Amino acid sequence: MTKKMLTLLLATGIAVIFVATGVYAGTDVPETITMDYNQYTKRTKKPPKSKFVEFSHQKHNVDYKISCGDCHHDKDNKPLNLNVGDQVEKCVSCHTKLAKDKKNKKDIMALENAMHGNCRTCHKEVNKKAGDPKGMKGPAPASCSKCHISLKKK
Ligand code: HEC
Ligand code: HEC
Ligand code: HEC
Ligand code: HEC
Repeated sequence: MTKKMLTLLLATGIAVIFVATGVYAGTDVPETITMDYNQYTKRTKKPPKSKFVEFSHQKHNVDYKISCGDCHHDKDNKPLNLNVGDQVEKCVSCHTKLAKDKKNKKDIMALENAMHGNCRTCHKEVNKKAGDPKGMKGPAPASCSKCHISLKKK
């Protein structure tokens, strides 16, 4: 075997490894996602008042049996039928408004509203089913401070 050929073989070998890890990273559905949207106006004030929300992504899917399409949808708000390994757009790529519009506070295209509309709406339903008529108390966090955990010592 010539030296040139060996180098070529090595290079392809490395390329294969890169592709393989690339595929692996893609198949990985994130286990926990730190909901780090540092561009938020309120977040940029220093020091921040609360921790980033730790979202147990995989647990929601596997343990709580929520399907991908209950949270991920397309540009027409149609549920996405995803498989592990599919490319997924971040919510912020469509829900681009990082501050609520004072004149249109409920605008779902504001990221904050999309987040609360997804997380909090479901959690309230979960708690209602668990017996709290207002849906605020129960297994799923619904009050502000349960998700936005204060950094200040109490
Ligand atoms: C309970 C809601 C929920 C469920 C169920 C869910 N996801 Fe997600 N997923 C999210 C949220 C929220 C994010 C964070 C997106 C962001 O940072 O904007 C996310 C992020 C992701 C990401 C990373 C995107 C990135 O670029 O960072 C992938 C990949 C993904 N989800 C795939 C899936 C797949 C596949 C399923 C089903 C097996 C699934 N998700 C189920 C809510 C959910
Ligand atoms: C490809 C673009 C796109 C992405 C990515 C996206 N959304 Fe949406 N979302 C939309 C559109 C469009 C609507 C409908 C707006 C309307 O009805 O005016 C919508 C509506 C919503 C609603 C209101 C649902 C309803 O039926 O009332 C919620 C909540 C929401 N999105 C949360 C999320 C979350 C959480 C993520 C990330 C996991 C996400 N969206 C990712 C485009 C997107
Ligand atoms: C479709 C329903 C649904 C959606 C959407 C949803 N959750 Fe949940 N969540 C649940 C259920 C069910 C539980 C668990 C209740 C229990 O323990 O039985 C839960 C529990 C939690 C918990 C506490 C336990 C844990 O696993 O960490 C956190 C924190 C949480 N959710 C954050 C979020 C965030 C952040 C979002 C939005 C990005 C979200 N959830 C969206 C249904 C949902
Ligand atoms: C189920 C969890 C959950 C609950 C309950 C919840 N939030 Fe959030 N909230 C989030 C997530 C996830 C985001 C987006 C990521 C981030 O910035 O932490 C967010 C974003 C925000 C933002 C924009 C970020 C910023 O700092 O400017 C504000 C403000 C906010 N929430 C206030 C509230 C208030 C007030 C309540 C109670 C009425 C509340 N949230 C209840 C999960 C929750």
